[in-house]
Amino acid sequence: VTVTYRWRGEVANGELNALLAEAFDTRVFDEHEWNWAELLHAHSLGWVVARDGEALIGFVNVVWDGLVHAWLQDTMVAAAARHRGIGEELVARAAAESRAAWCEWLHVDFDEHLRAFYLDACGFAPTSAGLLAL
Ligand SMILES: CC(C)(COP(=O)(O)OP(=O)(O)OC[C@H]1O[C@@H](n2cnc3c(N)ncnc32)[C@H](O)[C@@H]1OP(=O)(O)O)[C@@H](O)C(=O)NCCC(=O)NCCS
Repeated sequence: VTVTYRWRGEVANGELNALLAEAFDTRVFDEHEWNWAELLHAHSLGWVVARDGEALIGFVNVVWDGLVHAWLQDTMVAAAARHRGIGEELVARAAAESRAAWCEWLHVDFDEHLRAFYLDACGFAPTSAGLLAL
């Protein structure tokens, strides 16, 4: 299987909302609720799309402050495609593109069970962070 990765690649609302529902165990939002195509182009530094043929199997969004800080959001790999290094490659490409855009820091926050993924596999350093439920 050849996986293709595209920075700022074409991606449709329906396929992203389906992948998100699987990855985060949500219902499937429709594009009036969550219009990725519009939001990504308006607010993100970029995003990485992974496909196996036509099928969307991975995605990560990179939001930013417009200058030096970038943040990963919604890192996700389809359940059937996990543990093949696709998540690691999505994050590596997001980091490389953020560096190329002159960002100096890439942030991510995650649940405890993903420490091995972000710290060991992807190379992030642990840090203090805060989170406020709204
Ligand atoms: C987290 C996620 C993106 C990882 O994708 P992936 O393609 O399976 O990751 P990789 O194959 O690149 O993993 C590399 C290594 O990271 C670690 N790792 C990956 N997923 C992990 C998990 N769920 N728990 C603990 N370690 C994990 C493992 O060491 C893995 O190596 P291994 O497969 O040889 O054990 C995927 O599990 C996913 O979409 N999860 C649901 C959504 C989610 O929680 N996203 C993160 C939001 S912060």
